Amino acid sequence: MIRSVVRGIGSALPRRIMKNTDFEGIVDTTDEWIVQRTGIRQRHIAAEDETTASLGEAAARAALDAAGLTPADIDLVLLATSTPNNTFPATAVEIQQRLGMRHGFAFDMQAVCSGFVYAVTTADLYLRGGMARRVLLIGSETFSRILDWNDRSTCVLFGDGAGAIVLEAAEGQGTIADRGVLASSLRSDGTFKDKLFVDGGPSTTGTVGHLRMEGREVFKHAVGMITDVIEATYTQAGITSEDLDWFVPHQANRRIIDASAKKLGIAEEKVVVTVDRHGNTSAASVPLALSVAVADGRIKKGDLVLLEAMGGGFTWGAVLVRW
Ligand code: ACO
Repeated sequence: MIRSVVRGIGSALPRRIMKNTDFEGIVDTTDEWIVQRTGIRQRHIAAEDETTASLGEAAARAALDAAGLTPADIDLVLLATSTPNNTFPATAVEIQQRLGMRHGFAFDMQAVCSGFVYAVTTADLYLRGGMARRVLLIGSETFSRILDWNDRSTCVLFGDGAGAIVLEAAEGQGTIADRGVLASSLRSDGTFKDKLFVDGGPSTTGTVGHLRMEGREVFKHAVGMITDVIEATYTQAGITSEDLDWFVPHQANRRIIDASAKKLGIAEEKVVVTVDRHGNTSAASVPLALSVAVADGRIKKGDLVLLEAMGGGFTWGAVLVRW
């Protein structure tokens, strides 16, 4: 059977680092409060000339280099983002153009923080369905542009950045010993819309709007939703937490990550944490964390890696991949 195998990974971060102490003159907060409640110590914030498209392009080029491929080898550019450069056209098409591609096709996916997990699952279906042989899959965000910088309960939590992978169709045996995407589960439930949303849009206010979140409510649901969808993915693949080499969760809050890993019985040393240095970069958080763990030599070819995310909608999901 066809498996969607990771050929390369790359990432890109804005030049400017904003530390917790940099917020102290902007809103009524402290480094201690932010670290204690979230685990975040710093985040990268995009300058005017850094956009979802430019960061996405840089991550895409890095992933192509790592894969030893060029844009000519790609059939589909898939971008997970909630902060596109324009309402339309899709920012994926702009990245396709920046890469000099006039072949293949490109589109954006919008599942907020779950965007990358949704996009991996979508790319896997295109590859297994035979409509593409190689997918350039990007998560890129500039959440700093939709933050209310007067709201201390949200502006300290998010950051900007991009991560990308190249997925390639390869022949597998149909067992979990195969490399590639092995199992995935996706969920959404719109009854939670008002817990985490942006209060503007083209069809309602005609504005871009700002992110609004009832943090405590999101927190309350997060661990249960994350662990449920991971258990469904385990069942599909016939594995348990013991079989994992690495757990790469969405990087929203250190306490959510720790509580989810504990409930699932995943050993602390298998959990990849980057929320301390990136903050919550929404759809970019999982590929950014993957990129760090691949670059520092933790994640190696053949490792069993579990990806997970939960975000606005609510949307949530998990993907099991053998690297
Ligand atoms: N600095 C200082 N105090 C603050 C700050 C801040 N930056 N922000 C809020 N507070 C205050 C509140 O005003 C409140 O004060 P009060 O008790 O006087 O009213 C107090 O701190 C406690 O506020 P809570 O919101 O109850 O704090 P909590 O412990 O829940 O932590 C947090 C807040 C960090 C947002 C947490 O709820 C959380 O992480 N939630 C989940 C967020 C998340 O994971 N989102 C993921 C999805 S993101 C996406 O999909 C786009």
